[in-house]
Amino acid sequence: MTWGEAKEKPHEKIKANSINQGVVFDVEAIRAQFPILTQKIYNRPFVFLDSAASAQKPEMVIEGMAQAMRTQYANIHRGLYWMSDRATEAYEEARNKVAHFLNASVREEIIFTRNSTEAINLVAHSFGSLLKKGQAVLISEMEHHANLVPWQMLRDRAGIELRVAPITDSGDLDQEAFEHLLSDGKVGLVAITHMSNVLGGVVPAKEIVAKAHAAGALVLLDGSQAVVHQRVNVQALGADFYTFTGHKLYGPTGIGVLWARAALLDSMPPFLGGGDMISTVMFERSTWADIPHKFEAGTPPIIEAIGLGLAIEWRQTLDDEALASHEEALTNHAIARLQNIDGLTIIGTPKQRCGIVSFVMEGIHAHDIATLLDKNGIAVRAGHHCAEPLMRRLGLTATTRASFGVYTLKEEIDFLAETLQRIQGFFV
Ligand code: ALA
Repeated sequence: MTWGEAKEKPHEKIKANSINQGVVFDVEAIRAQFPILTQKIYNRPFVFLDSAASAQKPEMVIEGMAQAMRTQYANIHRGLYWMSDRATEAYEEARNKVAHFLNASVREEIIFTRNSTEAINLVAHSFGSLLKKGQAVLISEMEHHANLVPWQMLRDRAGIELRVAPITDSGDLDQEAFEHLLSDGKVGLVAITHMSNVLGGVVPAKEIVAKAHAAGALVLLDGSQAVVHQRVNVQALGADFYTFTGHKLYGPTGIGVLWARAALLDSMPPFLGGGDMISTVMFERSTWADIPHKFEAGTPPIIEAIGLGLAIEWRQTLDDEALASHEEALTNHAIARLQNIDGLTIIGTPKQRCGIVSFVMEGIHAHDIATLLDKNGIAVRAGHHCAEPLMRRLGLTATTRASFGVYTLKEEIDFLAETLQRIQGFFV
């Protein structure tokens, strides 16, 4: 089915509010939609600087999911009754919203998974089984474990070579080495993050896709971080697979997305077997349903998919350019404030950085920094950020990471910097 043929389903109109009119980016109006941000932690304002791990949820998502459970819940695709039809429509409408959001060619290109990790595992198992012994998968040194371990498992299972493209000291992909690793034509798939969850660097995705395609390789982009900060247009990027997760995009946990070109998905075997992914089942053999259902075995995360659809609808109330400049300004402000703190080093200087700043402080372990920040109501992540090989490349065991979202205030970054300055004072 193409977009033209897709049956338009009515859904509630987005409520007009102060943030979808023009380019005014009213952070206070946005914050007012996130109930958790009004809480006090240790009797102090809650300063949430860990959106890269998981973002907070706007009322529209919270209430919309509760409303779906209150008023239109039943199992989907199977029921021969009114309530099941309504739930099926809501679930499939969420697929439409994701397809529009990513500019997919057809809605069937959107596969719901549990998260980005599951989406990558799906590709590693399914597409991975089509790779031939002797072919390689090329990743980079800055991958999250989610885009590394599934390929290691494929290597060990199927004799596929795993290649790793280095990064430069600034934290960008080393383009020359990347091209060299592609040059023998053995790479069947390049699987690379669209934006590093540690360094915040956005990779030049179009350039990478062009180089990979020229060398005969397909491309998977792990968009878990990137999709939050910039509008992703999968057709313009030209990649073959794109993955992201709902909970970082202001939606619920338990829902993720794999996008891939329809013809590619058609050519791939199923990942998980079970109900809803079959056409016919006999003891001797089974046949598969068409995409997307072929890849959605069992009862899917119905309410979570509806929640993701709502998060996307909510995200689309924000002006893309205004959001991008808000987050760029926050990132630049954080760098300017933090780099003036004695003994603090910001990790990496990627060409394009978005919404994430990782740092270390002389003589203070990242976990201690995070614990002391927490006592001041500031939430950050500390550790290896599920990117141990990157930490080794950087000669570190851990960093402290501040990450920003739509609701982050400049004043919160100032408070972070002042608190770090005080922490530094305790240790010298
Ligand atoms: N991938 C998430 C992070 O970077 C959990 O924190």
